[in-house]
Amino acid sequence: HSSTSLDSLQRPLRDLRISVTDRCNLRCTYCMPREIFDESHTFLPRAELLTFEEIERVVRQFIKLGVKKIRLTGGEPLLRRGIERLIEKLAGLQTLTGEPLEIALTTNAVLLARKAKDLKTAGLSRVTVSLDSLSDATFRRMSDTDVAVGVVLEGIEAAQAAGLGQLKINMVVKRGVNEHEIVPMAAHFRHAGIVLRYIEFMDVGCTNGWRMDDVVPAQEILDRLVQAYPLEQIDPAYSGEVAERWRYADGGGEIGVIASVTQAFCQECTRARLSTDGKLYTCLFANEGLDLRTPLRRGAGDRVLADLIADRWGRRTDRYSLLRHEATGHVGKVEMSYIGG
Ligand code: GTP
Ligand code: 5AD
Ligand code: SF4
Ligand code: SF4
Repeated sequence: HSSTSLDSLQRPLRDLRISVTDRCNLRCTYCMPREIFDESHTFLPRAELLTFEEIERVVRQFIKLGVKKIRLTGGEPLLRRGIERLIEKLAGLQTLTGEPLEIALTTNAVLLARKAKDLKTAGLSRVTVSLDSLSDATFRRMSDTDVAVGVVLEGIEAAQAAGLGQLKINMVVKRGVNEHEIVPMAAHFRHAGIVLRYIEFMDVGCTNGWRMDDVVPAQEILDRLVQAYPLEQIDPAYSGEVAERWRYADGGGEIGVIASVTQAFCQECTRARLSTDGKLYTCLFANEGLDLRTPLRRGAGDRVLADLIADRWGRRTDRYSLLRHEATGHVGKVEMSYIGG
């Protein structure tokens, strides 16, 4: 195999996002609304989950095809028992191509304070924390939880203390719910060496009742920020980066805006997703994934697995966000907690 696999729109395969569990200890209304994800919802039974050995086998093939960044997501990845052991295995793949392999993790940070050190020791490169608010009331409302926001802030501090790379915060902005926290969040994370990223609320999955009216466009977010803190745009850190970067003119650090609704970034999308049960999805908004678990469990060799993945990527035409029409959204889209944010 050549080291770069291109899809039908000439986009290379660079990032792999792995959902290691479809469970979560929060119930964010935009992701896992409690009415749907309640006691009657069936999560995947253990035997359906890819084992760490299986994940490692699959990741090896992705690396051969050009993947340079692995992101562990979920659901909440820290709920997967022994996640440190998976990170160790993946960190061990660094030597496969001689090029650096980045291993990142997206977490709600509820369990981060007690795990940060072990994650660092296992070889995790960095963490991104999902946090939508600094006030208990708004946090509890958006994440539908009794957990206090202080627990998340402690997790963030622990990650910084453990030296877990460049910390980023993802804030999903929802009209009328947490838009009043746009500037306070900036004030809190400025001068702290943390990159806060504002995300437009997206119509992922079929359960979050998305409407265009709920989206606060990135331009509006920036307009509000600039009134408090002058900003200067900076170049992307790498091609295909989803966030547009801005820096505080006074040296307070940088922020990002992720405008997946108002300024789609599909042209440069290099992301593949592996669901908890081992299906390959080539778009966050895909209807259907390619089952890799069955061949894996039937003893397919590395070559066969790599060919399956390369073939699927080669046929990829996805550009959902570019084609999206207001409030239509096609039916049957998979849930983000299952394929990985
Ligand atoms: P960095 O390596 O830190 O730049 O991470 P990233 O840019 O991959 O960002 P992250 O994984 O933290 O994703 C941030 C958010 O951007 C996600 O939670 C989604 O809301 C959105 N996002 C990420 N990837 C995609 C994508 O492929 N399509 C769309 N539409 N949104 C995405
Ligand atoms: N729109 C935008 N971002 C979302 N996330 C989850 N659901 C949505 C949505 N509907 C984000 C979370 C987290 C990551 C896993 O995905 O905030 O940062
Ligand atoms: Fe859990 Fe993250 Fe989804 Fe919130 S956004 S329910 S923390 S997986
Ligand atoms: Fe990539 Fe699909 Fe998101 Fe477009 S909508 S950026 S193709 S995952």
